Formats: sequence, C-alpha cells, structure tokens
Amino acid sequence: MSISIPGPESLEILKKGPRLFKDGGRYEEAAADAAKRGLKPPPQMINAKGEGAYVIDADGNRIIDFHAGWASNPLGNANPEIIEAVQGAMKQYGFIYEHSLRYDLAEVLTDISPGKKFTRTNFEISGTEAAEAAVTYAITAAGRPLIITFEDQFHGDSIATRLLGSNRGAHRRLGFEAWRGGVITVPWPHSYNIPAGMSFEQYTDYVLWYIDSFVCRKIADPETIAGILAEPLLSEGGNWIPHPKFMPGLRKLCDKYGWLFISDEVLAGMGRSGKWWAIEYDDVQPDLIVIGKHLTGGIEPIAAVIGTEEVLAANDGHSGSTFAGTPAGCAAGLKTIEIMKRDGLVERAAVLGEKYLERMKKWESEFRIIGQVRGRGLLLGATVINPETGQPSVDLARAVHNEALSRGSWIIWDSEPQIRFYPALNMDEEILEKGLTLAEDAIREIDRNYSENNYPFWTTGVLW
Ligand SMILES: Cc1ncc(COP(=O)(O)O)c(C=O)c1O
Repeated sequence: MSISIPGPESLEILKKGPRLFKDGGRYEEAAADAAKRGLKPPPQMINAKGEGAYVIDADGNRIIDFHAGWASNPLGNANPEIIEAVQGAMKQYGFIYEHSLRYDLAEVLTDISPGKKFTRTNFEISGTEAAEAAVTYAITAAGRPLIITFEDQFHGDSIATRLLGSNRGAHRRLGFEAWRGGVITVPWPHSYNIPAGMSFEQYTDYVLWYIDSFVCRKIADPETIAGILAEPLLSEGGNWIPHPKFMPGLRKLCDKYGWLFISDEVLAGMGRSGKWWAIEYDDVQPDLIVIGKHLTGGIEPIAAVIGTEEVLAANDGHSGSTFAGTPAGCAAGLKTIEIMKRDGLVERAAVLGEKYLERMKKWESEFRIIGQVRGRGLLLGATVINPETGQPSVDLARAVHNEALSRGSWIIWDSEPQIRFYPALNMDEEILEKGLTLAEDAIREIDRNYSENNYPFWTTGVLW
C-alpha cells in the first residue's frame, strides 16, 4: 500500500522553500524533472508532529520513524517524561549560566563512562562543537599541533569539523582544501568494496601499517602528532563496524607514540550500539569521548566532551559557548540517562540489535541489490549495490529509501549507497517489526523493478 507523500498540505509548505532557504528546497523542480523523465516524484516529509515511534506529517500520514531526528531521539519522539523535566528546568531557571544541574549531569557522565575514568566534562551545544573541543584539548594537552583522522568520518559541518571529517568526499571541503594544515587523513578500513582485492583483515592491517610506517616516517614526526580522532562505529559514513584489530591497533599506536585517543561517539554512543559506548566493544580505553545526539533525549540541545583526569584536569585549552550546558539541556540529559538505566534500554538495544541483524542479514542472499548488511545494537543498515556492476549505488539506495517512505517507513539515506535504521531504543517491538517489514518490501520492490525496467523508478529527492 502506498501513501501519497507529500500530500496537498505538505506540498503547499514545500512550495515556499525556494524563496526561503539557502538551498531553496526545490521540491517542485525535482518533481517536474522526475515527470519529464517518466519517473515517480520523490516522496518528501513535512512533519507536523512527533509521537513516540511515529512522525505524523502535515497531511496526517503516520510514518514509522527510523530516522529518529538523525539518531537523536533514543526514547522516541516528544518523550513526555523528558519534556516534563525540561519544562521544569525552563520554569525554574529560564536560561542562566551557573546552575547545579551542570554538576549533576557531569557526575552522571563520569558514572557511566568506561571504567568510570572520565572524571572531567566540558559542555557544548552540538556534537560539532564537542568534536572541535576534543581536538582542541588533545592538542593543548599534548602540546603538539597535528591530528590524525579517517576518511568518511563525520564530525560536523563547521569549518574545523569539515576539515577533520570527510564523509561524502571532497565536496564537503569545497573552498577550504588549503586549510587542512593540521589534519592528516587516512582511510577507515571498510568491510565491503575493499580496495586492491584485500581481505577485511588485510585492509585493516594495511591502514595500521600505513599510519605507523608511512605517516610517521614520511608525513610527520610522530612527536608532532597530538592524537587520533576516530569513530569506533563509522556512523554517518555508512554504518561500518570496525575489524576487531582496528581500534586496539590504533590504541597501540597511541601508546607507542604518546598520542591521545579521541572516540567520537556523537551518533554511536550513549546506548545506540548496545553498550553505553561503542568503543567498549573493542576493549579500548580512549582518553576523550565526544558525546551528542542521544544526550539531548531528542528534546533540548546539549553535547559534551568527557576526558580523563590526566587530559582535562589542567588543560590550557578553551572551548565553550553561551548556551553550552543550559539548565534545560542538562535536565534532558539527566532524565534521558535515568530512563535508559531504569528501563534497561542499553541492554535492550544489544538484544534487539542481534535479533534484527540476523533477520536483515538474510537480505544479502535474498536481494541482488543488497551488498552487505551491518549492525551493532540498534545501529543497523546495509550497502545497496547495482547488481550488474556489483558497485555500491547511491541511486538504488535512494530508490529504496523513497519506496520505504511511500510505504510508511522512514529510514535514513543521505546521498550515500547505504540505507540506515536508527530506531528509538524503546521502540515497541511490534512497530519495529512492522517498519522493518515495510522497508524489506521496499527493497523487494526495487530489486524486482530493477530487473524489469533496468532502472530504479524513483527519482531524486532534494530533501530528506
Ligand atoms: C560522529 C559524529 N560527530 C559529530 C557530529 C556532529 O553533531 P551535530 O550535528 O550535533 O553538530 C555528528 C552528526 O551526525 C556525528 O555523527
């Protein structure tokens, strides 16, 4: 069954886009282009309401939400308990700077940090700022100017984080290519579409060798490198799970050269992976962790960088901003963590993740357009391929996304050859099953249609 998205109300709103926004939100243009090419117009959500596992658009369509505010709503949309806590803080404090909730949340973050060793916190507003703060503190703590990062990581869209990350390729750095002086970027070894016929393990070994033997001998003296900035689950870059040798190998290099290990867990952290911190799967102790998304409870922006006593207690660096650690943000973080603990949601994410990964893994043999399914906890997804070339296909991934949305299941596709699923950690299993089945039906449809027409029948969407 297909839902008409956008319906008339949504369409009226979308029409205003071109004169209001930088990118114009050119929905009508995209729809007209589709019609000209004999393709279906792209479905496009304009949301009017968030309600637990659902979003409801301006035309009243109820859609199962695996998008989850770009993976920021661990407890479902508009969670009433968090809203109540946030409202309470708003009423009590409005916005003032020094307040006790900052202390409470910092204590709680230490308590849930790996080995309770992260005794120091610096609050920020967004994951972007928190990632920048972590790099600042690594550089000032080490007294060294360079940082190693990995291709395809995403740390935000500020100038600094665009230089540090690069998912979706060089375009992200357009105009700023020459600003990358302090950043050394190396590949993040993917488990699929691996270059030069290497195995996953060989590719991982190669990257570790490259850092040790090439970066440290030919690019920079290791004593000028402050540390590495790594995503322990490469999330926005396509839901990649590291080879078991990768993170421990990076830690060994850090120990060898006196580098600091920064784990960017803005998306994968705080329970999404089925552990509080994704890096815990690798039994690696980082020096700094970057936290965002889930910490907001999906309600009120807050982010943080947490670090060990050695790195942050006497650090000369500085980072922060006016609205970093607002009373409402801290209240959201405190309530979110309280509920996650109370309801055992981290453990639940691990159990459900395993169950649904097993189901989704069958897609690899069932559908020609699915190359590889990957997941850890409730970070789930798949690489979509062109069955003729065997190459990852952005077009077909978009087609699956569009088809799934038109059936009532909103998954993430972000101009990439992947589809990604980030259900709320408390999503009712019946709804999760249903949303997954709708997505599976969408894959089946595109798979079948591809063979008949030799072209995905959905055209581009300009928005998400
Ligand atoms: C790993 C990672 N770091 C940093 C960020 C930036 O966070 P924000 O968009 O909240 O600034 C993101 C956002 O997706 C992310 O996935």
